[in-house]
Amino acid sequence: MQSGKDHKPAVLFVCLGNICRSPMAEGAFRAAAERAGLACTVDSAGTADYHIGSPPDPRAIATARDNGILIDHLHARQIDRDDFYRFTHVIALDSANLQGIKARAPRDGTAQTMLLLDALDTAGDRNIADPYHGNESDFAAAWSVIETGVDALVAQLLREGCDAAA
Ligand code: 4NP
Repeated sequence: MQSGKDHKPAVLFVCLGNICRSPMAEGAFRAAAERAGLACTVDSAGTADYHIGSPPDPRAIATARDNGILIDHLHARQIDRDDFYRFTHVIALDSANLQGIKARAPRDGTAQTMLLLDALDTAGDRNIADPYHGNESDFAAAWSVIETGVDALVAQLLREGCDAAA
């Protein structure tokens, strides 16, 4: 299995529509990786095709902007077969989408699949709630959990890189 130990990490965040949680995760992760000096490819996608080509939800854009991150240039796309070879980590925002990812994964796909909150070393709910049918405070709550998750993921990827250097 290809992993961050052998290659520059390439991370794909996946939610349902690719307009709320995964673009926020993409933006938050890119900033966290830059802060940590981690060279990493990052992208996001949805398991569904509902919003292909659309920018992130205006509430996701506003929440990211409130936190100093711009995601208004992103466009939704659906995960495809190549993603399981191009990315080292395909990371779901909740368990329903992790199931959807695993159902699509080619037998010889090289990406590791996981939940974003699997990067945390604490117990608890690993799902990041979908804020799409909620309000601004639901987006702020999702952002807060996503930030915790991406910080832990950056630390995990750095550890994997350190293992390679050891
Ligand atoms: P996301 O949120 O998966 O975080 O992008 C959703 C966006 C759109 C829909 C559901 C969830 N939808 O049903 O259109």
